[in-house]
Amino acid sequence: MAAEADTVDDDTLNGRRYVSATSAGAVAAHLPHLRSQARQSVPPPAAHLQQQSTPLQIVSMPSAVTCTFVGEGSANAVFCVTPANDIANGRRSNGNNGSNGSNGENGTGTPAGDAGPLSAHLLRIPKAGPGVGPTTCLEHHAFYSDVLRPLVGTEWLVGQHLVRGIVSSGVSAILNDLLADMDRGRRSRPDWVGTRVAVDVDVALLVEDMTSACKRSPNPSTTTTIQCKPKWLVQSPSAPSGAHRCRTCALAAAAAAAAAAPSRAKGSHGRSGLAKKVAASPHKVKPCPLVLVADPPMTPREEAALDAALWDYVCQHMSSAVSSSSRSPASLPGKSSSAPSMALLKARPAIVRWLRTTDIFRRIAAIQAEFDPHGALSVTLEGPVSDGNASALALDRLQTAMTLRDCTCFLRVTTSDGTAPSQPAAISAKLGDLDRKNGRHKLARWQEQERALLAGGYYLGTEEPRQQTQCWLERQWE
Ligand SMILES: Nc1ncnc2c1ncn2[C@@H]1O[C@H](COP(=O)(O)OP(=O)(O)OP(=O)(O)O)[C@@H](O)[C@H]1O
Ligand SMILES: [Mg+2]
Ligand SMILES: [Zn+2]
Repeated sequence: MAAEADTVDDDTLNGRRYVSATSAGAVAAHLPHLRSQARQSVPPPAAHLQQQSTPLQIVSMPSAVTCTFVGEGSANAVFCVTPANDIANGRRSNGNNGSNGSNGENGTGTPAGDAGPLSAHLLRIPKAGPGVGPTTCLEHHAFYSDVLRPLVGTEWLVGQHLVRGIVSSGVSAILNDLLADMDRGRRSRPDWVGTRVAVDVDVALLVEDMTSACKRSPNPSTTTTIQCKPKWLVQSPSAPSGAHRCRTCALAAAAAAAAAAPSRAKGSHGRSGLAKKVAASPHKVKPCPLVLVADPPMTPREEAALDAALWDYVCQHMSSAVSSSSRSPASLPGKSSSAPSMALLKARPAIVRWLRTTDIFRRIAAIQAEFDPHGALSVTLEGPVSDGNASALALDRLQTAMTLRDCTCFLRVTTSDGTAPSQPAAISAKLGDLDRKNGRHKLARWQEQERALLAGGYYLGTEEPRQQTQCWLERQWE
C-alpha cells in the first residue's frame, strides 16, 4: 500500500527554505506546555510507539497569491493557494479565484516547476468561533506531531505543516471574500452561511492535498479520492449490553428521529446543534462503519454479505469522490456524481479486498478502545491538568479517542482506463481532519449526547417510532 511520506524536506517554499531559526524559535516559545502535556498524558501503547518531539517547522505565505475555495466543514475552511508566479506559468490556475493583487512578484524566487509545499498542499484554516485564536493551529500541530504521529504512524496521516503570515500577507481577507462569494449561491449547508475564517489566526496549516494525484493524473490512469469518516469503530463503552446498534448508528437513529420531530429533538437533546445539522442535511440511512472492522467471514454466505456491505459503504460515500476523469471537484457541492464510474466498478474486487485486509481501521479501533475504556460519562473535569491527576489524564486520553472518531479517511484508488486492463487497481488511504478536541469545552456535550442515546433507547432500537438504520450489529441479530 502506497503512502507518501511528509518529510521535513518539503519545508521549502518555492525553492527556498523558509524555516528560520528565529521564526521556529519564536513560535516554539508558545508551545512548551502543550508539548509536555501531550508527552505526559498519552503513554505509548507499545515500546515501538515512543513519543517523539518533532522540531517545529514553519513556512511563510508568499506575498502575492491566488486562492480558490476547496471545501469547508463546521470548524475549518480549505483553500488552494497558488503563488502569483505559478499563475503566470500556467500552474494550478482555477476559475473563481481571489487574489491579493500585489504587483505580480511573489518575492519567493520560484524556480520553474518548483512551487514548494504550496503546489501539493492546501491551506486549512479555522473558522472564527468559540475557543479559536492565534494559537489554535499551533496546538493542533503539536498534537499531530507529538501524539498522533507516534500513535497512528506517520504513513497513515495526511501530511501537514504550519504556515504563517495569513493575516499579514492579506490572504485572510481574500479567503473571507471567497466565503462571502459562497454565501451568494453555493454554500452547501445553510448553517454555514456567514461563517468566516478567524481574522486573528496568522498561523494556519498546509495539509497534503489528497486530491492532487487526481488533478495531475494523466490518462490512461485514473485516480479517484473518496472521503469517509469512519467514526466510532468500536462500540461505546457505555452502550447497554445487548445493543442492536453501534454508537454511530445509534446517533444516526437519533438524528433521524430529530428530523422527523425537530421540535421534540431540540428539547430532548437540549441543544440546537443536532436540530440545525438535521435541518441542513436531510436524513438518509447512513452506512455502518463496523463493516470496516468486521470479523473474518466463516462461510461463503458471510463472505458475500461482508463484501456487499463494504462496497455499499464505498458507494454511499461516492458523492465525495474527486476523480481525474471527472470535472466535478468536491468543491462544487451537488455537482459530483454519486454513482461509481465504470473504472471504479471494475476495481470493486480490489477495493473490497483492500478494505478487508488493511490495518488502518483496526488500528484506529484499538486506539479508540484503549484511550476511552470507560466512556465519556465516567470522565470528570475535576482538578488541574498536572502530573498524576487521574481525571485530567482520562480527559486527555478521551480527547485523543474523540479526534480519531472524527477524522476523515481519504481513500485513493488508481485504476487503468482500459488500455492496460490487466493492471491492478492501486489503493491507499490516509487520515486527515485531525484537530485536537478540547475536552474541557466539549465534555458536557459528549456526555449529554451519550445520555440522550441511552435514554432514547437508540442503542437497543427501542425508540418510538422505530428508525431505520443499517447497523452491522443489527444484522448479526437477524
Ligand atoms: N487534505 C485534504 N485534501 C483534499 N481536500 C481536503 C483536505 N482536507 C480537507 N479537504 C476538503 O475540505 C473539506 C473541509 O475540511 P475538514 O473536513 O478538514 O473541515 P472540518 O471543519 O474539520 O470538518 P468537520 O466539520 O467534519 O470537522 C473536506 O470535506 C474536504 O472536501
Ligand atoms: Mg474537523
Ligand atoms: Zn452501526
